Amino acid sequence: MKFFVDTANVDDIREINDLGLLDGVTTNPSLIMKSGRDIIEVTKEICSIVEGPVSAEVTAMEYSEMLKEAEVLAKIADNICIKLPLTLDGLKACKALTGDGHQTNVTLCFSANQALLAAKAGATFISPFIGRMDDISLEGMELIAEIRQIYDNYDFQTEILAASVRTVNHVKDAALIGADVVTAPPATLKALVKHPLTDKGLDAFMADWAKTGQSIG
Ligand code: E4P
Repeated sequence: MKFFVDTANVDDIREINDLGLLDGVTTNPSLIMKSGRDIIEVTKEICSIVEGPVSAEVTAMEYSEMLKEAEVLAKIADNICIKLPLTLDGLKACKALTGDGHQTNVTLCFSANQALLAAKAGATFISPFIGRMDDISLEGMELIAEIRQIYDNYDFQTEILAASVRTVNHVKDAALIGADVVTAPPATLKALVKHPLTDKGLDAFMADWAKTGQSIG
């Protein structure tokens, strides 16, 4: 499973990337707003930190305007992945951009049929938003399972990018179902390592080690 971090904060991206576990980054207009920075400038910096795909989202609603914005975004770096909304214009732009050799991420997916359309449009990634579904008492994880089954039925190569991840259990459940990628906020990715028995065990080992009076090396 690939790990993407869902933020436009370069300090957080650097920290997670330095762990050696990061495969890519996802951003969106809200995350750019939170960064307080210019989209081109901050996206360029992110692309210089991380080798994998960096999703940058178009903000136009209409096909030809989306393509114009995609052209600007694609010039930022070779690892840009153009993020497009799950609308008819977005799908049409996805088809055109993947045909031109760009990586694409179709975002704001909330149904299996939408994911089917994105795969038919040749999307590199489909982003089902788990947390936002759970927020309104829908089952985000069921959607991941449905998409997995449909993509496997037809051998679609579009990768399932579990998005809007809010908890460590979202990560585990998406992995169990077989999502190809998970994108999560920095705090959620870092929380994956936490277990009280690990902390307790380490404390005990360190206390016993101190009693030996030894040091290694
Ligand atoms: C995915 O690409 C989106 O940027 C993100 O996961 C949305 O998450 P949210 O629902 O927490 O805003």
